[in-house]
Amino acid sequence: MHVFLPLSARCLKVIPVMCILFLHTDNSPAPNKFRLILASNRDEYYQRPTQQAHFWDKDPTVVGGRDLEPGREGGSWLALSTQGRIAVLLNVKGENIQDPSQNTGRGFIVADFVTNKQHETHEEYLEKLSKNGHKYNPFNFISIVISSKEIKVQQYSNASGCKSQPENVGSGARGWGNSIPDRPFCKVNAGISRFKDIVEAYGKTEDKSILVQELLSLLKWNKSHLPDPELRRRLINQTPSIVEKNSTVFVNIPEQGYGTRTHSIILIDGQGKVDFMEWTMKEPIDPFNPTWISVNHTCQLEEC
Ligand SMILES: *[C@@H]1O[C@H](CO)[C@@H](O)[C@H](O)[C@H]1NC(C)=O
Ligand SMILES: *[C@@H]1O[C@H](CO)[C@@H](O)[C@H](O)[C@H]1NC(C)=O
Ligand SMILES: *[C@@H]1O[C@H](CO)[C@@H](O)[C@H](O)[C@H]1NC(C)=O
Ligand SMILES: *[C@@H]1O[C@H](CO)[C@@H](O)[C@H](O)[C@H]1NC(C)=O
Repeated sequence: MHVFLPLSARCLKVIPVMCILFLHTDNSPAPNKFRLILASNRDEYYQRPTQQAHFWDKDPTVVGGRDLEPGREGGSWLALSTQGRIAVLLNVKGENIQDPSQNTGRGFIVADFVTNKQHETHEEYLEKLSKNGHKYNPFNFISIVISSKEIKVQQYSNASGCKSQPENVGSGARGWGNSIPDRPFCKVNAGISRFKDIVEAYGKTEDKSILVQELLSLLKWNKSHLPDPELRRRLINQTPSIVEKNSTVFVNIPEQGYGTRTHSIILIDGQGKVDFMEWTMKEPIDPFNPTWISVNHTCQLEEC
């Protein structure tokens, strides 16, 4: 017997993903500046079981959240390893998908990159991923490798209209959402501009607590950014009200049991000291009155 789920529900079942990401990197930071500042939101159905960010039992050098959805356990959307690797996966919405049931879960793209069991270089991993790109539903993959000498950021998207090769991304402030990198949603552009101002004003180690508070309020920003033709185009079957509710950095659609349910902030200073902070809704989630809990992890990158 066949069960016909709407396409969006079927896809959402299989993928743990990040929904908005802001990133600032600095190759040679001044002594009181950060080498990396990352802020991101995960938007997801509240019912989907998720584990808070933690050091993974089988890979104790890795910290990140994990999916507990049956059949997809262990997948991750954002993770960091003390080997100096960070990976983030974002879903690309509104693309033609031939047969999503045939697709491999993308959550392991993140876990495989950060655990690096195959001992592959950054380039080798991305080359392999881009060769297998057709096996997955459309995504943006942001991968970062940090050594004492440099910080290298690459983006690769398997969505149509994208370059089929991974691209090097320069340093500075940038952002990604659930569209292809060349056609960001308005909320992503507005968020990048606010993120840039925050980094300029407070991106110093001595201002850490105010920096974190400012980044968190960026992640909680509920202003809608409309009109947004790209968002409208990618949410083709949705009502104007749902499009509007998706046009904010912080998404809140309690009547659908959906929205931003996790905020993550990562700071790495010039000596390779990492602060990994996460705020997440406590399960089971009451959509109209969620309880937020936070967890902080610190570690030291091996090579810095
Ligand atoms: C994803 O990448 C693979 C390999 O490069 C390619 O065959 C496939 O067409 C790509 N998918 C899309 C939607 O572009
Ligand atoms: C937006 O956030 C502010 C402050 O957090 C809150 O007072 C307001 O009710 C929110 N607006 C909407 C539409 O959710
Ligand atoms: C917008 O909201 C709906 C839930 O009502 C969700 O299914 C959809 O994925 C969201 N779209 C984007 C681009 O976040
Ligand atoms: C984690 O750090 C943030 C920012 O400094 C703070 O607001 C939060 O309360 C901390 N959470 C825990 C559980 O210590």
